[in-house]
Amino acid sequence: MSSAKRLAVLGGSGRLGAALTRAYAADFQVSSFDRTQLDVGDFEQVRRSLDALEFDTLINCAAQTNVDRCETHREEAFALNGDAPGLVAEICARKGAKMIHISTDYVFDGEKRQPYTEDDAAEPISVYGASKLAGEERVLAADSGHAVVRVSWVFGPDRPSFIDAVIKRARAEEHVDAVADKWSAPSYTIDIATMLRPLITDRGTAGLFHISNAGECSWQEYAQWAIDCCHAAGVPLKGRRIEALRLKDMTNFIARRPPYTVLSPARLQRISGLTIRHWREAVADYVQSFVARRD
Ligand SMILES: NC(=O)c1ccc[n+]([C@@H]2O[C@H](COP(=O)([O-])OP(=O)(O)OC[C@H]3O[C@@H](n4cnc5c(N)ncnc54)[C@H](OP(=O)(O)O)[C@@H]3O)[C@@H](O)[C@H]2O)c1
Repeated sequence: MSSAKRLAVLGGSGRLGAALTRAYAADFQVSSFDRTQLDVGDFEQVRRSLDALEFDTLINCAAQTNVDRCETHREEAFALNGDAPGLVAEICARKGAKMIHISTDYVFDGEKRQPYTEDDAAEPISVYGASKLAGEERVLAADSGHAVVRVSWVFGPDRPSFIDAVIKRARAEEHVDAVADKWSAPSYTIDIATMLRPLITDRGTAGLFHISNAGECSWQEYAQWAIDCCHAAGVPLKGRRIEALRLKDMTNFIARRPPYTVLSPARLQRISGLTIRHWREAVADYVQSFVARRD
């Protein structure tokens, strides 16, 4: 039986927050808040709501995740991604609760060509990345028992992401393309829920962690595999081949994107002994379980 029984989730209707809320419902007493129930930008409401709540561990999935919006709304980005997690972390510390704060691979500049470890220097090249890094620093400074978990390329059934946009395009047209010179590893929300468990149940696990599915790929390889899985699962598509784009051709991007942000989950694996499945297996599972069944 777990030692942490009462769990709070912020951003509970988002892609990751909704998946975690569902995944943990059987084992924990989960209080999950969407934006209408708890606006993390309203600091008075944050204090009131969390002061009144009894919980052992809080997972913060609430964030301004629109990378381009952050670039043009700097103050909002730092308030939601920097100040808000900092405040939540201080409240958790005061209550003797552990905070697990979700962060991003975009804290790195993407110039490395080997998986980033927790010891690599974070040097964000966008307002989004800088605001998320500010949040990480505030959370870790508030209590040495808190954890910050960086994830990359999150996908899952609760909210459409890159993979769903690719499949939607391939359903409608023959020509589909994706960037071939940007690399990371997709992270399936259902697998993230499994990987986070040791951090919830073992209060001794604190500090910085990297989490993703195993392996690495470009957006083009990710998209091609998603399409291949759809074909194998009998999902009717017009597009079969993903053509290559270059990152520098993405003129609609406002914020700069780091080219290489594979995260090494070795630290978590060492601590937890978890086997992390390959991103291809996770994508195949997602297509089979959710995309094919929608048809
Ligand atoms: N998506 C990715 O590829 C990716 C990659 C790396 C890291 N991450 C990190 O993973 C975490 C979860 O992201 P996600 O993929 O689940 O994205 P998401 O679906 O956009 O989730 C973010 C959640 O935050 C909520 N939110 C935004 N402003 C809020 C506010 N003022 N008060 C309360 N809630 C607010 C959103 O509410 P609404 O439902 O009302 O919009 C949404 O539910 C974030 O920390 C993100 O930085 C994501």
